[in-house]
Amino acid sequence: MDAISRQDPIVGKILKNEMKRQQENLIMIASENYVSPAVLEAQGCIMTNKYAEGYPGKRFYQGCGNYDKVESLAISRAKKLFGAEHVNVQPHSGSQANMCVYFAALKPGDRILSMRLDQGGHLTHGLKSNFSGRAYRCAFYGVSKKTETIDYDEVMRIAKKFRPKLIVCGASSYPRIIDFRRFRRIADKCGAMLMADIAHIAGLVVGGVHPNPVSYCDFVTTTTHKTLRGGRGAIIMCRKKYADAIDRAVFPGTQGGPLMHEIAAKAVAFGEAMSPKFRLYQKNIVRNARILAIALLGSGIRLISRGTDNHLMAADVSGFGIDGKKAAAILEEAGIVVNKNQIPFDRLPPTRTSGIRIGTPAITSRGMGPKEMILIASWIKRVLMRPGNKNLRVMIKKEVKKLCARFPIYSK
Ligand SMILES: Cc1ncc(COP(=O)(O)O)c(C=O)c1O
Repeated sequence: MDAISRQDPIVGKILKNEMKRQQENLIMIASENYVSPAVLEAQGCIMTNKYAEGYPGKRFYQGCGNYDKVESLAISRAKKLFGAEHVNVQPHSGSQANMCVYFAALKPGDRILSMRLDQGGHLTHGLKSNFSGRAYRCAFYGVSKKTETIDYDEVMRIAKKFRPKLIVCGASSYPRIIDFRRFRRIADKCGAMLMADIAHIAGLVVGGVHPNPVSYCDFVTTTTHKTLRGGRGAIIMCRKKYADAIDRAVFPGTQGGPLMHEIAAKAVAFGEAMSPKFRLYQKNIVRNARILAIALLGSGIRLISRGTDNHLMAADVSGFGIDGKKAAAILEEAGIVVNKNQIPFDRLPPTRTSGIRIGTPAITSRGMGPKEMILIASWIKRVLMRPGNKNLRVMIKKEVKKLCARFPIYSK
């Protein structure tokens, strides 16, 4: 950062302030994390300078020897981590990875069945204003009103009636284990292909604390920067028979030159994910989420599906007389950063919402554990119970800052 500060003090100052924000606040947005110094370095590495269109051994530019090596390494590490037959490590983002699967597997107008966005799904699973909802005919399944967990019988009913060509499972805000085997059975019953989008839970899968979808699915996509704690981007895994179609859908189908510095960062992150330390980290994410959930429930906060099996929970804040937007804003004033999120059967629009989503990956990366979870739960409760009390938030923010100082994000 020294070179930036010397050459461009304006950007330098913004970055210093961002470092301070990330250090002094409890980052509890479920899709965010702190990458390791090695991954951070790789993302700003020399490989940003090169075009490497194509694939290892089949590039369109000269000078790609080192790029072939790093991309092949990322591929072989990802294959080993997930047990996948084929992996493409070039997608720039999770959205593009999903787009590539649809391009490879479907024709415009084909039918997709996926989880409703307002019950935990993702934009790229068929939202009307997203490419997915514009190019394909989409139907949706959701959660049961009673349990707020996926109603697999309902998924089966809809699938039999709608006859999708592709079923998408996986979510952005679903706190429970996803039963991939059950989804496979449903897909087989209606002759559909199956894709799992494990953007959120990929780290948990690698760490052995969530079932692995790879053996059940035709395609699996994931971002690399959430629980997986890698550089920003995504990968696509698939069965061998789809390998060429997927590779062609990525390049030249939807992307030009791969972001090779990000691919280097993916290789580094996958190397980290192979360590026993990473498995323990994933266990701790889930343990922390459980403890936090139990503490929040104990203090009278309603959690969707009454808890969590993974790294996140969704809290209904309507009982406090506020919406999710207000809850996220006042929590941020107290140094606790979460996002507003619709909850199942929400009466409020996505711009307001009745809920917030809370995640433990980033605070677990800092080394926080059970004691800190209990403390954080008590702060969340106090802030939500007294939304008009600004002084309370100022006081809690000071406590948050003190706690964060004990858990540095990047020690010098
Ligand atoms: C389930 C799921 N799929 C896909 C994506 C999209 O990833 P990106 O933001 O990298 O496009 C997200 C992002 O939050 C996600 O939660």
